[in-house]
Amino acid sequence: MKDGRIKNIKIDRDPEGSQVKAFQTVHEAYQFLQSLGASQKLILHVKLVGEAADLLISKLHELRVRFDEKYFRLGVVFHDAGKILHPEELNAKGNNHEPDGEKLLLANGVDRKLARCCRSHGRWQTMECSLEELLVALADTLWKGKRDRQLEDSIVNRLATQCNKDYWELFVEIDSCFEAIASDGDSRLLRSQAA
Ligand SMILES: [Fe+2]
Repeated sequence: MKDGRIKNIKIDRDPEGSQVKAFQTVHEAYQFLQSLGASQKLILHVKLVGEAADLLISKLHELRVRFDEKYFRLGVVFHDAGKILHPEELNAKGNNHEPDGEKLLLANGVDRKLARCCRSHGRWQTMECSLEELLVALADTLWKGKRDRQLEDSIVNRLATQCNKDYWELFVEIDSCFEAIASDGDSRLLRSQAA
């Protein structure tokens, strides 16, 4: 499907005045990703990461955290867009998809801030990241059952400051959520083999 066939993506202006696509729903974002050439395997991957993101979103609402839910959801859909250009990185390690995904999205009218998640989900340790960018990286880790203490720590620290809660109090509450998401990693990995 060519991009021109997706009629309902609205156009917005970014802070510099350039035209950018304003995705209203995750479904629109999936369609757009497919129009760029995403394989079924890539779509399935981002949907499985989306399942982990949904669980994180519920917990964040429960904790009354302020965050940009739409960015988080769209970031999850687009974070691996570069694997359209580097399909081998769907099965093997490699990070060429990170900068190339960002370039691909920018060349196709995606907002700069959103396109950045292609790099930041893999390079958050060396970049200045928003909470939402860190959440994309976390969903992309937890979905397969992996825990990353450093990443989780950065997020818990931010949330503790934002919610004005004690770090350990928050840690206890949220660590069990991370563990519950990770504990289904094997079944998601199995399902990821279906495409
Ligand atoms: Fe991913």
